[in-house]
Amino acid sequence: METELDRRAREILEGNDRGGYTVPNGRVYPFQWNWDSAFVALGFASFDQDRAWREIETLFQAQWADGFLPHIVFWRDDAGYFPGPAVWATGRTPPTSGITQPPVAASVIRSLWARAKDKKAFRPRLEALFPKLLAWHRWFAQVRDPLGKGLVVATHPWETGRDNSPEWDVPSRVIDTSQVGEYQRRDTTHLDQSVRPTKLEYDRYLALVQFGRGTGWDQQRIARENPFRVADVGMTMILLRANRDLLALAEELGRKQEADELRKFIARSEAGVGYLWDEQRQSYCSRDVITGQSSGFVTSASFLSFYAGVRHQTRDQKMLAQLERIAGAAKYLMPSLDPEDPGFDSIRYWRGPVWAVVNYLIATGLSDAGHTSWAHRVRRDTRALIEGAGFFESYCPITGRGTGGGDFSWTAAMWLHWARHE
Ligand code: GLC
Repeated sequence: METELDRRAREILEGNDRGGYTVPNGRVYPFQWNWDSAFVALGFASFDQDRAWREIETLFQAQWADGFLPHIVFWRDDAGYFPGPAVWATGRTPPTSGITQPPVAASVIRSLWARAKDKKAFRPRLEALFPKLLAWHRWFAQVRDPLGKGLVVATHPWETGRDNSPEWDVPSRVIDTSQVGEYQRRDTTHLDQSVRPTKLEYDRYLALVQFGRGTGWDQQRIARENPFRVADVGMTMILLRANRDLLALAEELGRKQEADELRKFIARSEAGVGYLWDEQRQSYCSRDVITGQSSGFVTSASFLSFYAGVRHQTRDQKMLAQLERIAGAAKYLMPSLDPEDPGFDSIRYWRGPVWAVVNYLIATGLSDAGHTSWAHRVRRDTRALIEGAGFFESYCPITGRGTGGGDFSWTAAMWLHWARHE
């Protein structure tokens, strides 16, 4: 039976549906966002499978010829967001940003395929999406893995999806903001600035956009010369998992050659992911590939090692010990930053708040690795947050208060797909 929250979640998705794609939140984020759409598709799948597939198909209509999949698609302009299409100036149709986002789409498609009742009806759609997903994964391997270790190097904090995580503070120091000039932010007209990134962070975000634009969005050059190049623990773990899921789909479709190629990607990441292990911090951490320095921050992304299927007995034990410690310090898992970190800020975006989508990935990984009671704890906490505060962008891990935008699509989607279930 549909509960009040189920109905509300469905209404949010329907209300944010712009016809083939869904905006994360109508005011703060009025366009199509890459990884938001992937999560949103899981939500739609609980009541409309066709619409779920369409969300991803629409996203891939904006894919570039080299496989790159942008983080925002500006299907229609909207003055309520900055920086809009004119600032990015990628010269594409439809207009897009020039950076990407965590590649969750293949994992989502595998999940949609698994639940498709009428396999015959969905098979052509799977056949059509498969090469596009593979092209994006190849792009990561060819353009964003300069060390050849199967990691993902992010060239903008926005690519990681964890915009203002403290992981980016030190690597961002070298970004020259002197040419950024005057601009008017829109996010702080919709939301209180205490929950948003700072002016210095925004200056740096824009300086990196200017850098990309200055290269004519030459992705090879950006990957070589961009002032910010960080191997992101989140994107790396998510891609490793996505490659495994795409491999399962390749096998399903009988694509032997592609399956072999994916096995190589997976083997490379499994061998290379140790680069992100910070022995001093006893955790997986993002690492600056320009300086070789580990961020030293334990964030929610650190716990995606389980989701990636990285199995390493001693490191897994250490990560579980971190989890236990953090569970003792925060009422609700999983704070985006270790609550015992001096920079922890329970309401400021990716420096403390809990995000339902990250919880879903973490819990999926914990469950797959056999740590079911931890997986349940993460789901229970997510459910309690949504029941207590509604469908917010994120939540304070101490009080459970909703932070950021309301009526948020991916939170509604995570309710429908995952958090509401026992
Ligand atoms: C913010 C988040 C990012 C998300 C986007 C739209 O930029 O940090 O992860 O994709 O908003 O919801």
